[in-house]
Amino acid sequence: MKTRVEVMVALLVSAFILTLCAASAQAQAPPKSFDLIDWNGGKFVYGVDYYPEHWDEVQWERDAVMMQAAGINFVRLGEFAWVKMEPVEGKFDFAWLDRALKVLNVHGIKAVLGTPTASPPAWLYAKFPDIAAMDENGVRYRYGSRRNYCLHSPSFLAATRRVVSAMATHYRNHPGVIGWQIDNELGDPICYDPYCRAAFQKWCRAKYKTLEALNKAWGTIFWGHTYLAWTEIPLPWNTLGGAHNPSLALDHRRFHSDAMRDYLKLQAEILRKLSPGKAITHNDMGMYDGVDYSQLNAPLDFVAWDNYPMFGENYSDYAGTGLGHDLMRGSKNNQNFMVMEEQGGLPGWDIFWGRQAAPGLYRAWAYQAVAHGADGICYFRWRTSRYGTEQYWQGVLDQDSYPNARYQAVSQMGKELAQITGLLKGSKAVSPVALLVSPDSRWAFHIQPLVKDFDYNRQLRLYYSAFRRASVGVNVVFPQSDFTSYKVIVAPSLFVVDPALVAKLEDFVKKGGTLVLSYRSGVKDEHNVVTNQTLPGPLAEMAGIAIHDFDPQTNQEQELEDGEGERHPARIWFDILDLTTAGSIATYTKGYYAGKPGASFNQYGQGHVVYLGTELSKSESYSKLVGALAEAAGLTLGPSLPEGVELAAREKDGKRILFLLNYTDKPQTVSLGQALQNVLTGQSEPAEVSVPAFDVKVLVNP
Ligand code: GLA
Repeated sequence: MKTRVEVMVALLVSAFILTLCAASAQAQAPPKSFDLIDWNGGKFVYGVDYYPEHWDEVQWERDAVMMQAAGINFVRLGEFAWVKMEPVEGKFDFAWLDRALKVLNVHGIKAVLGTPTASPPAWLYAKFPDIAAMDENGVRYRYGSRRNYCLHSPSFLAATRRVVSAMATHYRNHPGVIGWQIDNELGDPICYDPYCRAAFQKWCRAKYKTLEALNKAWGTIFWGHTYLAWTEIPLPWNTLGGAHNPSLALDHRRFHSDAMRDYLKLQAEILRKLSPGKAITHNDMGMYDGVDYSQLNAPLDFVAWDNYPMFGENYSDYAGTGLGHDLMRGSKNNQNFMVMEEQGGLPGWDIFWGRQAAPGLYRAWAYQAVAHGADGICYFRWRTSRYGTEQYWQGVLDQDSYPNARYQAVSQMGKELAQITGLLKGSKAVSPVALLVSPDSRWAFHIQPLVKDFDYNRQLRLYYSAFRRASVGVNVVFPQSDFTSYKVIVAPSLFVVDPALVAKLEDFVKKGGTLVLSYRSGVKDEHNVVTNQTLPGPLAEMAGIAIHDFDPQTNQEQELEDGEGERHPARIWFDILDLTTAGSIATYTKGYYAGKPGASFNQYGQGHVVYLGTELSKSESYSKLVGALAEAAGLTLGPSLPEGVELAAREKDGKRILFLLNYTDKPQTVSLGQALQNVLTGQSEPAEVSVPAFDVKVLVNP
């Protein structure tokens, strides 16, 4: 029997252990907010993606000297070097990476190490062929390329744990390693092998608990697809005719997105445990929609993404890139982020993709990231590779290491950033306008794309660009985000809604917000099943409309005529509106529904709902809509901007830092209404400020 003292001691010890556990559990969670500049020792994170293993060691010192001269203080290393780190199963060699780090650290350059799991060694595939994913025809991929692994292969997960644990342990106390990037661009492929099928069945079971609930939710009575055992549930693999139940397909998209998050979490937990105090991130892909970034990024300390504006042909069209930045920022509650791969040269693999950009554009694009909330820029890559698939993907330097014009532009920006770090620190991009991105709707449109030319991302861009042309910043929100700080929420084609989202939107409008909805909103419930309410379904009451007919036409020309008699060409889809409590703001001019409303405005509670039942063909039409919205919602629009010129702002302590960016090849003038100070030159700029071609001005009120 234990004495009283022994019992007391035992209790105290267990209380101590419990406290320790709680503390370590706390240490496992990512922080609520993260300051990248503090993390990097007070410096703006300015770096390059560097692959020392691709170059002779004699080159490393020369590289570090050139980097330091350009103001580079950061590198990302190691992300594909698994075979060099673990040449033989379970035997690790980090000596080469230690030597590279030493050279870089001496020149004031800190590192994030990439866990190398995106590129498993050939010996791992040879030993465990089932680490490779299976395509939808049941054929396993084979070794080659990268990122073709199965997220549920036990051999791959074991190998992941081993290499990540070894790296984390080795670099645990390394002062020159400040963080981790997990894997590389998590995304495709979707794997259709038996591991993934069993995992999907388990996922469904956890979600629906009973088969009755699943069968009901998915409507499996259709085509007799009712499941009587969990093991009968298929993956949406290739079948004759190709059509899977859209409810199954949507859950499978969610499952795959969750699987990527779980894989990332698996690595994050090892890293947090074995190398505490180092930040963890991943390189996301902006507008890529195979994954719900608002979920994927939850286990990370901060968001990083890969920004390649040169995928568009029109380099002066900045909205797509801006939206990418804003979506990435929004995916983690608007915390400042970094660009882990910023365009540093012309992209290409087997061919060059695009035309060369003026050197100044690379700097302007990097400043655009800063303007949208980046506290870190890392160019992909330091130098173009001599080898492999990416011989045509230009780095800042070409293979000959000549300090070319891109290097000069990068160096110029390095100096400037060092100068304005104090000003930028703590400032954020803020906005009264939010664009609601619904991952469920995006996926549901992939599954059933509506009509030939429908594009959810284009819908987002059309509204986004109109606000940006009026110099209004836009935050991106997700269904689970906090809506309360916004005056306007634009939710284009909000196809899939659940009761929680409907209630949040109702609350937002009732309290005075302005909500903009567009065609095909409120059509599906959270199971991707069509509502039996009159459209726009659960959103109909707040929109004050009823849709009893629609016309999906991609070829026929249609127009909306607004209250001022102005005509707006329209396309893709035409919802024919009956007004219940709303008023018409525009009517169709053609066809059997000429004269019927196509756009409406409803007062609901203290706020308003605008419904646009079509897609307008001209950007000017969206600009006019934004003007009307500003009036209704009490928004202040900024100066009007010439095409190819962007005005973006970060704010700190109520003060604004303006970024005026000229992506065109001509000087441009903008009227800002007052003289401002240019913090890059220290000079005053007149109210009519002019920006040279491909240049940037960073302005504050002195
Ligand atoms: C992606 C990857 C990089 C590199 C570039 C260029 O963004 O993350 O590793 O492959 O593309 O192809």
